[in-house]
Amino acid sequence: MNSDLTVRPRRLRRTPALRAMLRETLLTPADFMYPLFVVPGAGLRRPIASLAGQFHLSPDQAAEEAARVYELGVKSVLLFGLPAAKDAVGSSGAAPDGPVQTALRAIKKAVPEIAAATDVCLCEYTDHGHCGLIVDGQVDNDATLPHLARQALSHAEAGADIVAPSDMMDGRVGAIRAALDQKGFSHIPVMAYTVKYAGAFYGPFREAAGSAPGFGDRRAYQMDPARRREAFIELAQDAAEGADMVMVKPAGPYLDIIREIRDRCDLPLAAYQVSGEYAMITAAAAAGLLDEKAAALETLTSIKRAGADVIITYFAPRAAEWLRGRD
Ligand code: PBG
Repeated sequence: MNSDLTVRPRRLRRTPALRAMLRETLLTPADFMYPLFVVPGAGLRRPIASLAGQFHLSPDQAAEEAARVYELGVKSVLLFGLPAAKDAVGSSGAAPDGPVQTALRAIKKAVPEIAAATDVCLCEYTDHGHCGLIVDGQVDNDATLPHLARQALSHAEAGADIVAPSDMMDGRVGAIRAALDQKGFSHIPVMAYTVKYAGAFYGPFREAAGSAPGFGDRRAYQMDPARRREAFIELAQDAAEGADMVMVKPAGPYLDIIREIRDRCDLPLAAYQVSGEYAMITAAAAAGLLDEKAAALETLTSIKRAGADVIITYFAPRAAEWLRGRD
């Protein structure tokens, strides 16, 4: 009846061996970067209510966690800090004994081979929760830059292998690059949060990091989700300022942008599967609506297929375990 059909793509989907042979996109644990939330203190491993399966870790515990995930094949972590004190300019973010700086030293001692990246931003350290300094009720771009540079430098001094500014101020990559170079850290790369959209998917993170803005929102500095071409302006700017890696964030809702950045740029590209993307899957799985492993691996495969080299994901250690057991 259908014998007149010449093209039958189903022929190559018939068996697991055929499907495995033809798979173009393969995930490996080394693709993943794992975010860690570091708090002051010792011996602390407290579950984060808004992010099922994630923890607030004291620096010693962050080092243990880094060693554990490295064993699983996850070669990098991304550190966020919850400081003991906050002020208007986020000065605790650059404190040599801050949670991130302390964790960096502990991690590099426990597992020197791991790539320790740090998020550079003021929102976790300012009492108003914005990513920059407030001048006349607005986030002031240029006044913020030296504070970001100072924080990035303190991370490098504590042993960071990569610094990753997420604030979305114009010119921050250049300001950080100059500060690092001046102090003997010309070998430390900057992974820029190049294309970061203002959106609804950061909610669980802001609860986890205590970094929700105290007034207003971030739409005057993060990007409008309805704009596409602006991503290429950001890309050109960060590349010109010396970014070593670029990022698209969030990942899943912005796969088109990941693909277009990949096609236009030869710098390594990271994509951040953010807290809201993670929460949608874990919550649906907890409600019995989705198979967590299958859904998570499908989203990670899609992000890689879109063109990401590195995927920042809260699933990192579990996905590494799932991949080990995969047929
Ligand atoms: C800091 C920062 C945020 C995230 C990463 N770095 C929060 C924000 O921009 O409000 C979000 C990560 C996530 O949601 O998982 N600026």
